[in-house]
Order: sequence, then structure tokens, then C-alpha cells
Amino acid sequence: MKDRLEAMVTGLKGALVEERLRADNGAAFVEEQRVKYLGKKGEFSQVMGGVGKLPPEERKAAGELANRIKAELEGLLTKAAAQVDELKLEKELKGPRLDVTLPGRGRPPGRRHPVSQTLEDIVATFGRLGFSVATGPEIELDWYNFEALNVPADHPARDMQDTFYLDGGWLKAAASPVLLRTHTSPVQIRTMLQQPPPVRAVMPGRVYRKDSDVTHTPMFHQVEGLFVDKQVTFAELKGTLDSFAKAFFGSAVQTRFRPSFFPFTEPSAEVDVSCVMCAGKGCRVCKNSGWLEVLGSGMVHPNVFTAAGYDATQVTGFAFGMGVERLAMLRYRIDDLRTMFENDYRFLAQF
Ligand code: PHE
Repeated sequence: MKDRLEAMVTGLKGALVEERLRADNGAAFVEEQRVKYLGKKGEFSQVMGGVGKLPPEERKAAGELANRIKAELEGLLTKAAAQVDELKLEKELKGPRLDVTLPGRGRPPGRRHPVSQTLEDIVATFGRLGFSVATGPEIELDWYNFEALNVPADHPARDMQDTFYLDGGWLKAAASPVLLRTHTSPVQIRTMLQQPPPVRAVMPGRVYRKDSDVTHTPMFHQVEGLFVDKQVTFAELKGTLDSFAKAFFGSAVQTRFRPSFFPFTEPSAEVDVSCVMCAGKGCRVCKNSGWLEVLGSGMVHPNVFTAAGYDATQVTGFAFGMGVERLAMLRYRIDDLRTMFENDYRFLAQF
């Protein structure tokens, strides 16, 4: 029995070699050895089963020996488990390093899009001229977008080719065809229907047209303006828009009013500013004319007042509309419209 017990110590010592302890499953291996030697059905229990058969005078010495061997086996296993932990730590320290003192990867601060900046700037400029802000829906009824604005039934803008019409389901029950507004002018009607004169408001927002090429996108932004009161004159239209142009582009710009046509204004005028690129000398951007067209305007048509519930014999007014992307491009000297919609951070970070 003594030999068998001592053979166990030698056997366990031989099994717990560093190579095995270093392996990934080192801890599991040590546990396996513990079960093999000290488990309920392990070698130690098996040998001890024989103690009862010894003559009584030998039992005491055998018991003492057994206790010593058991303690030795336990000691070996505890030491091996500690060694497994140590080897694991050593392996980790030799492995790839994580330098916690390295600076983190920065997140660049967000930027306001040049279109947003321009739109807010236009609104703020008119704010200083006494204009409040009004908004309306992008999904609009034909009646507000065209009918109430005196746009005739056969006007090309009403064509399916030019306007996004919505249809299907509950939309069929709408009072007039449903579309994506093609300009911000319907907000003029909504504003007048909501409040009695006077009105002095700008109306920014998205508009949609079936247009898509290098210089047109199906969605773009406009800022509409409306000024209605007793005896508003064309001179006030000119003064207001000239002040705006000088505030927006710089006091050196000149303005020019050209006769034009819109169904909802009469008379109508297209407003040009002296070219901001060449100061009017003539360049590629202004096609050598020295002038840039920046907005449409005119005196509100009496039919528009009538549709909006205003008495056309009591009030007059002017309205205007401008494209925000175009103004942003002129102001920041951007020559490709597409850059405004790509949202490339390297582009946006410049404004
Ligand atoms: N709604 C016109 C357009 O989209 C612009 C405009 C607005 C013209 C108001 C005159 C008065 O082109």
C-alpha cells in the first residue's frame, strides 16, 4: 500500500509538467488530474478501501501515511492551479499590447449644411426688415399650389411631366389633386386664409419638381416672401429686395428689375444682381452679361387676393420667391450643384 501511495505522488508530479499547464486548457487539465487522483472514485479512494483489511497494529501507521500523501497530492494540485494562472498572465503580457495612454480617435464636430446656413441667413435678413416666418406642408393640394394662385388649367407647370402628383387610397377622397408642392407660393394662400391683413412674412421650405440634371435636382429649397397692406407699391418691392440683396451679397452689389411673367403677380419682375464673381465685368458664371438672376417677384394678382379671402379693392401687396441652393452657390462660389446633395464631410467642413 505504501508503494502504491507513493507511486501516486510520482505519477501526479510527472503529469503536471509545465508544457501541459501552459496549454489553453491548462486549468481543465489540472481539474482532470484532481478527479483522477482525489475524486470519489479516484486512485486515492481505491487504495484507501484496502486499509480496513490491514491488521489493527498496522492501521495507525497506514492512516498517518495516507494523510501525508493526500496532503502532498492536494499541495501539488493547488500549486499547479496557481501556476496555470501565472502562465496565462505571462502569455497575455507577452502578447499584443494595448496602450491605454494613446489619444482616442476624435469625432469631428458637426456642421450646418451650407443650404441651411443660407436659408437661415435669408430668413434672418428679412427678419431685420420686419418679416415674420410662416410655413406650410410639402404635400399640398392642387388648389393651393395652382388654382388659388391663378395658374390656368393648361399651364405647363401643371403637366404630369413637371409636377409630382400623388395618388391612390385615401388621397382619392381629397378635395383636389394631391401633389408635392412645386414652389413655396401656396404658403402665401395658407397664410392669408389664416389671418387678416396686414401680412409681412417669409416662408422657407422644400419644393419638388420633375427635374434632374447637372443644374436641377428633384428637391430644392425656396424662400417665399409676402407683404400685404393698404397701398403697398412697386417701389416698396424694389426697395425691400434691393436692401435684401445688399445685406446678403454685400453693399457693393447692384440690382436690376426686368419685366417678367408669373400668373400670380401682375406686374412681375425678375431680379438680377451684379455678378458676385466678376463684379459685373463679365465672366463664365454670368455668361459675360455681368448680371445674375436671383429671384422672381411681382405685385400680388387680384385673383390671388380673392381666392385667399382678401378684398382686392382694399389691399395691395408684393410677393417674391428665391432658390436657396442657387443663392448658396453664388455666395460660397460653388460651381457644382451636386456637391450640395452629396454630404461629403470634406466639402461641408469648408463652410
Ligand atoms: N413661385 C415662383 C417660382 O417658383 C417664384 C415667385 C414667387 C414669383 C412669388 C413671384 C412671386 O418660380
